Amino acid sequence: MQQHGLRAIALDPVTRHVELARNAVAEAGADVDVVQAGIEDMPIDDGVADWIWCRDVLVHVDLERGFAECARVLRPGGHLLGYVTCSTERLEPREAAWLFGALAIVPESTDPEAIETRAADAGLTLRSKTALGGEWRERMLVDGTWSANDDLAEVSRLRRSGADFEDPRVAAQAAGAAWGIYQLLGKTCPTVYVWASSS
Ligand SMILES: C[S@@+](CC[C@H](N)C(=O)[O-])C[C@H]1O[C@@H](n2cnc3c(N)ncnc32)[C@H](O)[C@@H]1O
Repeated sequence: MQQHGLRAIALDPVTRHVELARNAVAEAGADVDVVQAGIEDMPIDDGVADWIWCRDVLVHVDLERGFAECARVLRPGGHLLGYVTCSTERLEPREAAWLFGALAIVPESTDPEAIETRAADAGLTLRSKTALGGEWRERMLVDGTWSANDDLAEVSRLRRSGADFEDPRVAAQAAGAAWGIYQLLGKTCPTVYVWASSS
């Protein structure tokens, strides 16, 4: 695969998401290469990246491999911003098993302690940590860009319809609708981390 130098690069391993990203980039007229790849194996040279912007991805990733690869591509003093939906002590084990199973989430990758330890092990230095809790969702409620009512109604309708929650598509739809609600309930805590590469 082509190795990229100093440019803006967007990565996703899922074909459909790459297509959507390419369309969005074209529509915005942005100068961004969209590449099909995972964060664990980025087609980027060692030590060339100034910034990695990683929103809502690390929960899907084996942290050891993901952080090692970020540390590899960052230049010395480069930064990684990771927006991670962490789990909290309010998330009961059965809820966690359902939510994470339905959304292809690695349970350990939602644990703040594991996230911080694995990042440090990869040689990344924590610069800041901002626990947003439900703040962003509250904002969406206030400005009308998200409806908790609609998401709750969707979960309810799925339950009443007799849909098979063992079906991965049904489970993903329901868990996706519950996602924002769990944030408002404090069962998960969106958190923004900034790490610096020390190597
Ligand atoms: C919740 S979406 C977030 C999308 C986008 N970053 C955003 O904030 O709107 C998670 C994305 O991570 C992608 N993803 C899953 N596994 C990944 C991996 N190993 N490396 C990079 N991206 C991954 C999924 O395909 C999906 O597009």
